[in-house]
Amino acid sequence: MPLFEWDGSLALGHELIDAQHKSLVELVDQLHGACLDGAEGSDPRSVLMALYKYTMFHFSEEERLMKQANYAEYAEHKAEHDTFVSKLDALAVQAKQGRADIGQETLKWLVAWLLNHISVVDKRLAACLPKG
Ligand SMILES: [Fe+2]
Ligand SMILES: [Fe+2]
Repeated sequence: MPLFEWDGSLALGHELIDAQHKSLVELVDQLHGACLDGAEGSDPRSVLMALYKYTMFHFSEEERLMKQANYAEYAEHKAEHDTFVSKLDALAVQAKQGRADIGQETLKWLVAWLLNHISVVDKRLAACLPKG
């Protein structure tokens, strides 16, 4: 059973941002799948690095759109992104040291953060952007 699934209620009506959020949700769910006991196939460490890279890409895209639009809440929004990146940074350091023990608490934190960020903070941003 998936931990985190994309559903239409997360869509913000901005094509680029929605597509990227869908990919992020899929990567978090893949990470959950790779961390299940006895999971075969994906290595949690490689999924974590893919999530890390995609997150950096997505945040830089949103930050670019915010700058382009002279978005008033840029600093607060970027500070939220930085919180998530710090968490992934810490997990990536652990993974590089061979400790890829991404537990349920961590996965729940990632899901809760993303849900809140998309449905509150990104929603506010999308409402101020031209559709694209
Ligand atoms: Fe964001
Ligand atoms: Fe976002």
